[in-house]
Amino acid sequence: MGYQEVYQSWKSDPEGFWMQQAEAIDWDRKPSKALFDKGNDLYEWFADGLTNTCWNAVDRHVEAGRGGQVAIIHDSPITGTLHKITYSELRNRVARLAGALRAKGIEKGDRVIIYMPMVPEALEAMLACARLGAIHSVVFGGFAANELAVRIDDAKPKAIIAASCGLEPGRVVHYKPLLDGAIDLATHKPDFCVIFQREQEVARLEDGRDVDWHGFQYGVEPAECVPVEGNHPAYVLYTSGTTGAPKGVIRHTGGHLVALNWTMKNIYNVDPGDVFWAASDVGWVVGHSYICYAPLIHGNTTIVFEGKPVGTPDAGTFWRVISEHKVRSFFTAPTAFRAVKRDDPKGEFVKKYDISCLNAIYLAGERADPDTIEWAQKVTGKPIYDHWWQTETGWTIAGMPAGIEALPVKIGSPSVPMPGYDVRILDEAGHPMKPGELGAIAVKLPLPPGTLPTLWNAEDRFRKSYLSHFPGYYETGDAGMIDEDGYLYIMARTDDVINVAGHRLSTGGMEEVLAAHPDVAECAVIGVTDELKGQLPMGFVCLTTGVNRPHEEVTKECVKLVRDKIGPVAAFKLCAVVDRLPKTRSGKILRATMVKIADSEDFKMPATIDDPAILDEIKVALQGLGYAKG
Ligand code: COA
Ligand code: AMP
Repeated sequence: MGYQEVYQSWKSDPEGFWMQQAEAIDWDRKPSKALFDKGNDLYEWFADGLTNTCWNAVDRHVEAGRGGQVAIIHDSPITGTLHKITYSELRNRVARLAGALRAKGIEKGDRVIIYMPMVPEALEAMLACARLGAIHSVVFGGFAANELAVRIDDAKPKAIIAASCGLEPGRVVHYKPLLDGAIDLATHKPDFCVIFQREQEVARLEDGRDVDWHGFQYGVEPAECVPVEGNHPAYVLYTSGTTGAPKGVIRHTGGHLVALNWTMKNIYNVDPGDVFWAASDVGWVVGHSYICYAPLIHGNTTIVFEGKPVGTPDAGTFWRVISEHKVRSFFTAPTAFRAVKRDDPKGEFVKKYDISCLNAIYLAGERADPDTIEWAQKVTGKPIYDHWWQTETGWTIAGMPAGIEALPVKIGSPSVPMPGYDVRILDEAGHPMKPGELGAIAVKLPLPPGTLPTLWNAEDRFRKSYLSHFPGYYETGDAGMIDEDGYLYIMARTDDVINVAGHRLSTGGMEEVLAAHPDVAECAVIGVTDELKGQLPMGFVCLTTGVNRPHEEVTKECVKLVRDKIGPVAAFKLCAVVDRLPKTRSGKILRATMVKIADSEDFKMPATIDDPAILDEIKVALQGLGYAKG
């Protein structure tokens, strides 16, 4: 069957399609049907089945006689170490860790926050939670204590599992003080913390609260997998929205297993036993789906890579890892390739390694610019497949179904909708647009298995963010178009979310931080174009009347404030003091116009602008920051 036939087979019988895919999963009790319509636009998949994620990702491969296969390769150019863990070893390690967590009182439904760098123990912690039916929430290491505290207060974890430190090139990230700071800041307090002591930095343990990762596993009874309902949350992952309060995306167990397993062959075109590598971080959705769960559920070998595309030690790292571990499919973000391209424009490093094992390269997380795609194609000689998805969906909305049929690539397009997604382009009023016309991208409900059923503790916000604008549809927050051949093009966000080096960030969240500076009366944060990171945040602050301090002093404090409150990952380094912000007569800040000026793009003077002269002042400020030069 080709792509069209598979897509049509889903469209003509969505439930039959997914029930058939569910056959590839081990169930303690098979679901009686696929889709459960909860009414009022809420849906669940495989809700009455009973299964366990860890069983499907680990134990079943051991039972099937593949225990000797490597499950996880930890390749860490930062520490200069390489470590392989077989499926049997993984089962034993995870069962013991789960046993220790159970002995400390962790049960099905309890939340556990995981705050760890790119070490196999991060995956083991996720899997141990899954084994017990506990709901994990992994927090990215580049966030500051305050962001961790916000997540602690929302998820209310019984336990936190953290490492003593993370390692960035030339810098040790002291996780433990960040964790202690976050617990101090949070209203909710966990019962206990498990600390994985890395040899690069041993952290002080808090008496009565913290236990040592190895020590607390001593003498415990390994835990068996606890069967959970198909609609039991496997995890909650927080992502940026329009405001500073992150959204807790819920992933239900059954749909997650079925959908991710389907993607491994049909999208990534790997077979069980093949090595698959997603060079992301476990703190992001790509890391959840494609470093941890999907490759393991499908019986692949996954790579946990602790390094950067460049500088660890050079721009050849990707090719070294691919060749050394015989990677068959590789997934990264365009920004990573832009970094490699900057250091090695001619692809000299690629020539040093045999990457004949590699079938294709997949890009996601941000718009893949044609220059980067063409460069990657040229230097590697491999197909480069852009694919589009979101934390909310957990897997590809539109991509190349390479395991079904390698369709022609159209550079600039992440290709075609996957089965499960009925993608539509709508105008502001919700009317369908014609091929080639730009509009909001929406997906007809229900969304497929594996996507978010709602937000953690926030059903109203779920409705408001995704369902209310276009009744009967999921609003993606992206704008774009579909061409005559059914290929999708993603052009921009329709909200205040920006994408910095493949990391999703909220400008609204940064504005909240800047507004809290005692000398700031008003502020705006916009996302300007950056050659390496795609976008960079830039702040404009107006000072409170009477404040008469050197502007440089204030902007420095603003930069520090965002780093301290949100974290280094925000990459907030551009900030200017201005007298006024450009606004409409009704007081709405004209952020989109500011972005256009910064990027030296043509723009139409907004008819509703209050005082056009302010734009000249903004232009001067932008030029001071190295923008608006064209
Ligand atoms: N823990 C702690 N700090 C982190 C971190 C982590 N896990 N990840 C990033 N940071 C810090 C960095 O050290 C940097 O700090 P600095 O301001 O002190 O230099 C800051 O956050 C910004 O990091 P980043 O945006 O990653 O920039 P960079 O200059 O260090 O690296 C790239 C640029 C392009 C090489 C890098 O962003 C990259 O590899 N991107 C790929 C992104 C990706 O895979 N995204 C996943 C979505 S698919
Ligand atoms: P995240 O939830 O962090 O994965 O970010 C999702 C957002 O990143 C999407 O809504 C898009 O705005 C953007 N994005 C992800 N993949 C792509 C892609 N292939 N092309 C364009 N934008 C993308």
